[in-house]
Amino acid sequence: MPDDGTTNDLTPTVFVLYGATGDLARRMVLPAFFELAQHGLLPDDWRLIGSGRGERSDEEFVEHVRGALEEFGPDPDQGPWEEFCGRLRFAGGGFTPDDPGQLVDAVTDARKELGEDAQLVHYLSLPPKAFTDYTHALGAHGLAEGSRVVYEKPFGDSPEGFRELDAVVHSVFDEEQVFRIDHFLGKEGTQDLHVARFANGLFEHIWSREHVAQVQIDVPEDLDVADRADFYDATGATLDMLVTHLFQVAAEVAMEPPVSFSADDILSARESVLKHFRPLAPEDVVLGQFEGYRELDGVPDDSQTDTFVAARLFIDSGRWRGVPFLLRTGKRLADKQQRVSLVLHRPKGPVHDVPPNGNVISLSLAGAGSLDVDIMAKRPGPDLAMAPARVSLDLSKVPGGRPLAPYVSLIHDVLVGDRSLFTTSEGLAQTWRALQPVLDHRPEVHPYAPGTWGPVAASALAGEHGWLLGETEE
Ligand code: BG6
Repeated sequence: MPDDGTTNDLTPTVFVLYGATGDLARRMVLPAFFELAQHGLLPDDWRLIGSGRGERSDEEFVEHVRGALEEFGPDPDQGPWEEFCGRLRFAGGGFTPDDPGQLVDAVTDARKELGEDAQLVHYLSLPPKAFTDYTHALGAHGLAEGSRVVYEKPFGDSPEGFRELDAVVHSVFDEEQVFRIDHFLGKEGTQDLHVARFANGLFEHIWSREHVAQVQIDVPEDLDVADRADFYDATGATLDMLVTHLFQVAAEVAMEPPVSFSADDILSARESVLKHFRPLAPEDVVLGQFEGYRELDGVPDDSQTDTFVAARLFIDSGRWRGVPFLLRTGKRLADKQQRVSLVLHRPKGPVHDVPPNGNVISLSLAGAGSLDVDIMAKRPGPDLAMAPARVSLDLSKVPGGRPLAPYVSLIHDVLVGDRSLFTTSEGLAQTWRALQPVLDHRPEVHPYAPGTWGPVAASALAGEHGWLLGETEE
């Protein structure tokens, strides 16, 4: 039963985790699944079948899962471990279009235990290059019908790669069965973008070009990429973050009001606005690479991979025409933050000296998130002087709240069948369309010193407002 005392009427579920002994499953998926158990958010009856190439007994898999929880949390002893571990199974021998290994038998057994109408969920916690084969295998072994399938990001790492994968997926699944993860959409702060906006006239009335001068979506990271240099060098910041997370968050900000708050209507409102993304002009994009990157193990000496990207995006909808959306992210920068800010026009009334960034509505997407409003206030004292001040709401303090980490929230949505926070095939086609000019005419990659705010060329993109976070340095 859920920990808020409500009841849970989820269908019994067989959850097959492909790549169950891999790194992503260990760090993210298995911990998220256990957290759902802690919150009472799993169906009353379920089985998790780990699929992998090696041979393992169920008991060995249970030990593996316990090890993952001990390393990455939550602590198995702080939750219903005994009950949880009894529902774990392992199906070895790999899974290919020619050979299902032990998986088909394991699914048949689980369905016997749970009932034939149990919901089947496939979670592909696999390197993206494996998606095509596993999708074919699901079709070949009769496991696709009526099931749900979850793909990790990136769903295609180029426009062609995306189209090829999309065609394979649609040859086996209907779009309604497909859940493509972009974990930025699962963040509490991102979800608050549509709640804060549509549930408060205070924000909804000013959410447009009449009142907003500029939007900034800024995700600086101080992290290195040394532990995954191979992957990173083949990807870079533009593909890893811009065309995925930052574009999706921009769509969350820019969407038109959905017809209702149903999952389908939210999904369709967010995805529809992607059509209005103007293809990025290469001169509106600044790429950077931190000094020392090429010395990392696994990175070639002449690598041109971008570890930083800043872009000025325009969204040609009636609501946003002419408002720059400034998107920025990079590794080894001066700070780690995840912030969406709407900078308001200066008021037209009698006060003339409001600074350009005096009125800003912003949301932090990090952790449980926060909603902050920067305003000008009277500086207390004898004079009629103004000073900038901030009003903040820590979203974890919203009464009755129990924030969920993005993976926990998204896996729960898969179990419930709620696609509102997932991407669609049509929407992703639009993101690639908007990126295409930058792929065709790639801007030069500027070096930057670690611990700074990236290449100085990026500061010009932000115009008179400048970047709200930090200063761009030489
Ligand atoms: C991942 C990217 O998708 O998101 C990483 O591959 C990035 O490069 C990460 O660091 C950021 O995620 P989080 O969990 O810190 O919001």
